[in-house]
Amino acid sequence: MDKIYLCLAHMSGEEQKYIKEAFDTNWVVPLGPNVNAFEEDLAAFVSGAGPDGRAVRKEVVALSAGTAAIHLGLIMLGVGKGDEVICQSFTFAATANPIVYQGATPVFVDSEPGTYNMDPQLLEEAIKDRIAKTGKKPKAIVPVYLYGMPARMDELMEIANRYEIPVLEDAAEGFGSTYKGQMCGTFGEYGVLSFNGNKMITTSGGGALICPDGESKKRVMFYATQAREAYPYYQHEKIGYNYRMSNICAGIGRGQMTVADAHIAHHRWVHGMYEKMLGATEGVEVHSAPDACMDSNYWLTTIRLEGVKDGGLQEPAREVLDLQKKLDALGVETRPLWKPMHLQPVFKDAPAYVNGVSEQLFRCGLCLPSGPCVGEEQIEYVIKGINENL
Ligand SMILES: Cc1ncc(COP(=O)(O)O)c(C=O)c1O
Repeated sequence: MDKIYLCLAHMSGEEQKYIKEAFDTNWVVPLGPNVNAFEEDLAAFVSGAGPDGRAVRKEVVALSAGTAAIHLGLIMLGVGKGDEVICQSFTFAATANPIVYQGATPVFVDSEPGTYNMDPQLLEEAIKDRIAKTGKKPKAIVPVYLYGMPARMDELMEIANRYEIPVLEDAAEGFGSTYKGQMCGTFGEYGVLSFNGNKMITTSGGGALICPDGESKKRVMFYATQAREAYPYYQHEKIGYNYRMSNICAGIGRGQMTVADAHIAHHRWVHGMYEKMLGATEGVEVHSAPDACMDSNYWLTTIRLEGVKDGGLQEPAREVLDLQKKLDALGVETRPLWKPMHLQPVFKDAPAYVNGVSEQLFRCGLCLPSGPCVGEEQIEYVIKGINENL
């Protein structure tokens, strides 16, 4: 059996056609017909009807990375030096790093056990405490859709709206996940997508910022192209970035959009198989949506090992690391769940509001292979490996 990876890229076969078109027409630049068409495809994909029947219509800017999208989202929300931004602690560092690029301070908020995403109650506690301690409101809230799982958006948005703090959703892992039928990434002011090589769809590397309207899209494009003012010569009045997606990568993205629904359906099928086939394995819990209104894309299926020994906060439990090592020897890639940001040495001085949930999940969780190249045979092999090495 070939090595089984967590999530490998999978091509539709259409990608080459769009790339060839780009070469044939010499659009080998970070703008062009593929970029425009990919943005239209993405806007159509994320737009639609909201839970109350209201139309959700978004614009999308294709960028060089999801991290660039987070950075530009923060800039659009006016985050700057001395500000605080509330950020989910249980995430990849790319969610938090751009807050620091802006000279702002991340304030980490822990997760709730059902979704593994931002705990609404703790969010409100954090907002109140930051206002009491600093005399000003946090500038933005950044929830994350970890492993594709929708967060408790009704509760989070209610709090954000009540305190009038804008939300920037990190939907890098949540492409195609829905909450009450509405696409993740479209609830807040801005939403972030990633098309890195391991994501639900890929452009090799790339990302996108979901924007509320055409005006904000124009502004994002302005910052993404070195903030060049509309003069016949080079005039700059703001600091800009070189963050646009290349027309070649966007060609890959157009090809990937033809199989986006199939990819999502496959990840959901993989999760269903793990759920069914690991049901009989004692001491292993597969994470599934806690509520029917959350339709996860199940980018990665994750498990928790129950009854692991408490080995401290800095590392996963010995049992998790042992199982990872043994599965690796069998040619199966797995990975512990994200190490929470409030435990990362680089963020040791950032304020954090914690409840033990992400620490426990980091201690006992493991991501399983879930991508388009994982079929029934691979799933059976992974499960056999787990059962024989627990
Ligand atoms: C939760 C999360 N946020 C942000 C990113 C950053 O995306 P990118 O790698 O496209 O910069 C990733 C993935 O890499 C991610 O998993």
